[in-house]
Amino acid sequence: MAKPKVLVLKPLPEEAKTIIRERCTMIEPEESHISRERLAELISDVDGLLTNDIRIDSELLDEAKQLKIVSNQSVGYNNFDLAAMKARGVIGTHTPYVLDGTVADLVFALILAAARRVPELDSLVKQGKWGEPGNGGEAHYGVDVHHATIGIVGMGRIGEAVARRAALGFDMKVLYSNRSRKPDAEKAYGAQYRSLEQLLEQSDFVVLMAPLTSETAGMIRIEHFERMKPTAVFVNASRGQLVDEPAMIDALQRKLIYAAALDVYETEPVDAGNPLLSLPNVITLPHIGSATAQTRFDMAMVAANNLVGGLLKDRQIYIVPELQ
Ligand code: DGY
Repeated sequence: MAKPKVLVLKPLPEEAKTIIRERCTMIEPEESHISRERLAELISDVDGLLTNDIRIDSELLDEAKQLKIVSNQSVGYNNFDLAAMKARGVIGTHTPYVLDGTVADLVFALILAAARRVPELDSLVKQGKWGEPGNGGEAHYGVDVHHATIGIVGMGRIGEAVARRAALGFDMKVLYSNRSRKPDAEKAYGAQYRSLEQLLEQSDFVVLMAPLTSETAGMIRIEHFERMKPTAVFVNASRGQLVDEPAMIDALQRKLIYAAALDVYETEPVDAGNPLLSLPNVITLPHIGSATAQTRFDMAMVAANNLVGGLLKDRQIYIVPELQ
């Protein structure tokens, strides 16, 4: 029997390629940027696709008549048009679990960097300004993280990993808002359930950890920033489109909140002219939540297994909940 044909649009380690090549014919285009026309050509006769950023919608599926599975090399799958995939019986998979701790670590990197003004003070030292009057003194004091209140919006696996670090590592009071209560997290980390509004009013650090869906898009608007404490730090390491970005910029410019620490943006890569890049109370990272060598390796292995398993039905795979 002919091997299924799969298109791989992400760089993979050799180990992941081996998993795929053992059972499939793998197409790996050499170009770093693939035009829409080229994609249509490449996808026309493949059974599987490995990606994490291509929009999988009706238009694309019309050109991919043989496609049976899209394996996303990420936990998020907001690039899937779930209704279109469901209508055509195309499986969609993702890479949960392997990145939970890594993303939670990054959330804490952002929290600590904003609270203790790490990038600002790092740059001051490197510019040779440490010895100048006032530098490193009261004007540069930060805020405490330990024993502060953290509010986690979206208590999925990564949210819980953040709660664990907050409660057990930093003695923080943990609040959370979520579609459903999480009794295990309440017991293990003393996490207290709040409405979104209560959480915003009571938290020193507001961490957005929700998935991007049609219900959550734009969920944090100006009225939400207005509810936060003027000393609050807002952290987003999930998806930029969850936030009304102009409203966040307005809130930062008007100092409705103390700072924002961001790994994600409405448009990525973030535009060089975006006002977020010139605000002193904003810390910016280039969407690196899961970007450690080990975790990216693990994600590639899971994505490769999902791709092959989805076609051969010979192993456990991680189909996204809405398509199960
Ligand atoms: C994910 O896996 O969804 C992370 O945002 C990394 O892309």
